[in-house]
Amino acid sequence: MNLVDNSIQAVRGMNDLLPDVIELWQHVESAARDILHAYGYREIRVPLVEKTELFARSIGHVTDIVEKEMYSFEDRSGDSLTLRPEGTAGCVRAAIENGLLHNQVQRFWYAGPMFRHERPQKGRYRQFHQIGVEAFGMQGPDIDAELILMSCRLWEALGLRELTLEINSLGTPESRTRYRKVLIDYLTEYRDQLDADSLRRLEHNPLRVLDSKDPAMRDIINRAPNMFDYLDDGARAHFEELQSYLNEAQVSYVVNPRLVRGLDYYTHAVFEWTTDKLGAQSAICAGGRFDGLVEQLGGKPTPAAGFAIGMERLAELVSLVGLPDIDSAPHVYMVLPGSLAEHRGMRLAETLRSSGLRVLCNCGGGSMKSQMKRADKSAARFALILGDEECAQGKVTFKNLRISGPQELIDQSSVVEHIQKRLQ
Ligand code: HAM
Repeated sequence: MNLVDNSIQAVRGMNDLLPDVIELWQHVESAARDILHAYGYREIRVPLVEKTELFARSIGHVTDIVEKEMYSFEDRSGDSLTLRPEGTAGCVRAAIENGLLHNQVQRFWYAGPMFRHERPQKGRYRQFHQIGVEAFGMQGPDIDAELILMSCRLWEALGLRELTLEINSLGTPESRTRYRKVLIDYLTEYRDQLDADSLRRLEHNPLRVLDSKDPAMRDIINRAPNMFDYLDDGARAHFEELQSYLNEAQVSYVVNPRLVRGLDYYTHAVFEWTTDKLGAQSAICAGGRFDGLVEQLGGKPTPAAGFAIGMERLAELVSLVGLPDIDSAPHVYMVLPGSLAEHRGMRLAETLRSSGLRVLCNCGGGSMKSQMKRADKSAARFALILGDEECAQGKVTFKNLRISGPQELIDQSSVVEHIQKRLQ
């Protein structure tokens, strides 16, 4: 690193994605895009900044995200704005505002950066990226199952095995209220054994106590009343039918009654895909149904479900299982010693590109030796050398940079054909 004293560094937890990594990201994104389109999802792009109230009302006032993690600020007009911590709220706001939900079924996807002021560690960042999907107007559980099958197809396309799918049902708001009461009574009995975080949650958001990662709390949590026992018949039937879809499709899953999610808008089925290969930050994709959110944000009651994938975690996982051969190196490096060659060479390079070849032109001059060095470093397969002599004869010298062998003098008019033969 070449840091001088007055250099400015990136904000903690916000990372540069450098070209070597971007190739992997593009591979993942393009696989995701193909699959999302195959299931009829259409892209939506919404602003990175929304009114703070949008997130408070949707994610929930008493959640870690809203209480502790949002990048909120007052703009010059005095409005409280927030950098989006997730994509669902903005997507719902946009769908309502643009009248996209009136008696309509919609399937949207989005991708981009999200911001949460969490404690940075491997797999957990303050600016991170998600690919998310939201489906509106379908009661499920068929659409819930379709969402899960779609994520399965992405794992398969990326060569990922051994991911674990956990599912749970959070029921309806009514069944949750019933369960909440029972849970508060139970946890209050153990009040003196609860850690500080759980004590705080007990007051405001008791279900989140079930999500505690503190090992000392495990026993109390394991013996807590089971949410399933409080589901109403409709919620139970919905969850059972989702499981029967998954069984038919031979998707393995674990029912985890402690899976509660950190955002308040969920109802009925929720799910999370995890891996044991990334350490503590093991969730690579999570989502579920959020039937009440559209109405909560001012729209007509509309059933909805979706999920979001954490791109940093997914890309890391893909890199661990081994990358496919992503070849974005140039096919050809143009070595152009002399000003006549620079001009002719640029024209020839355009002809090569028009036939689909990736061509890197030597720019900025330099001796033949230094240009050949750059050609080697560029990872190109071939060099084309165009000196004064070649220019005068309408020829070009072809050199294979990967396999040693004699250089060949070829006609400029047949150079495309020559290269394409060597590429086969
Ligand atoms: P979430 O569980 O908060 O859900 O985030 C989804 C995924 O984003 C996580 O499983 C994880 O892979 C990634 N992620 C979250 N926070 C971070 C972070 N600080 N650094 C790196 N990756 C992170 C949602 O955001 C919901 N909006 C998902 C959804 C869409 N539910 C319905 N539709």
